Amino acid sequence: MAGLGARSVLVTGANRGIGLELVRQLLGKPDPPQWVFACSREPDGERGQELRNLASRHPNVVMIKLDATSPASVKDAAGCVEDHLKGSGLNLLINNAGIYKEAFLPLLRRAAQASLQEGLSCRKAAIVNISSLLGSIKLVSLTYGKPAISYRCSKAALNMLTECQAMSYKEDGILCTMIHPGWVKTDMGGQEADVTVDESVRGILSVLSTLSNEHSGAFFDWKGKKLPW
Ligand SMILES: NC(=O)c1ccc[n+]([C@@H]2O[C@H](COP(=O)([O-])OP(=O)(O)OC[C@H]3O[C@@H](n4cnc5c(N)ncnc54)[C@H](OP(=O)(O)O)[C@@H]3O)[C@@H](O)[C@H]2O)c1
Repeated sequence: MAGLGARSVLVTGANRGIGLELVRQLLGKPDPPQWVFACSREPDGERGQELRNLASRHPNVVMIKLDATSPASVKDAAGCVEDHLKGSGLNLLINNAGIYKEAFLPLLRRAAQASLQEGLSCRKAAIVNISSLLGSIKLVSLTYGKPAISYRCSKAALNMLTECQAMSYKEDGILCTMIHPGWVKTDMGGQEADVTVDESVRGILSVLSTLSNEHSGAFFDWKGKKLPW
């Protein structure tokens, strides 16, 4: 697998589940990012213990407080990230639990402008939205064993947002994509899910490392298969 090569990565919902594993596997890479901004609602709370343990062993982890439902919290988080980056940009924004495009867009643009890389890639500047197969309208008849209607609607809207982001930010040099992580054994997916969090995140990071111009706006699963809308 080619390396991801992103110098700075931000992951939301990083204290458990897929977000925590993304942080763990990013740090375990032979070429780990210089900065991993691990965002969670309560970095000092009980549910932040595993992330705190990880951060204590890796000085390149910066724990950031971020509640997706609070615009003020998102703004504060963006300010902290900007301070840490000391004038450089943010290469990769993984929206695992919430969407923060307005706050982090200037930092993504800064990374794209400073990059000498041709074309679009996660190494340069990218927004990755963690979506779900349940958001695919084409596949509803196959996946409706679990109605989860509000969840489907939010992920279908996220898919449209990602497509619009891809159209809007192409000229800025920012790649935008959405990924279905599989049905994953997390608090959300439950223990009957058929993919471990380790397998899912390995797959996601492998897919991210291969993305380029023609993949912006596309909807992939964790194995790299293109999904229909
Ligand atoms: N697991 C699956 O089978 C599956 C399948 C398809 C898609 N997905 C998607 O994958 C992503 C991660 O899911 P997961 O399985 O890892 O879920 P999870 O284990 O339930 O973890 C959810 C994470 O999101 C955080 N979060 C929730 N509300 C938040 C808010 N308002 N602001 C900031 N953070 C918030 C949680 O933080 P707290 O600890 O503070 O609550 C936690 O870190 C989600 O977008 C989900 O829709 C999962």
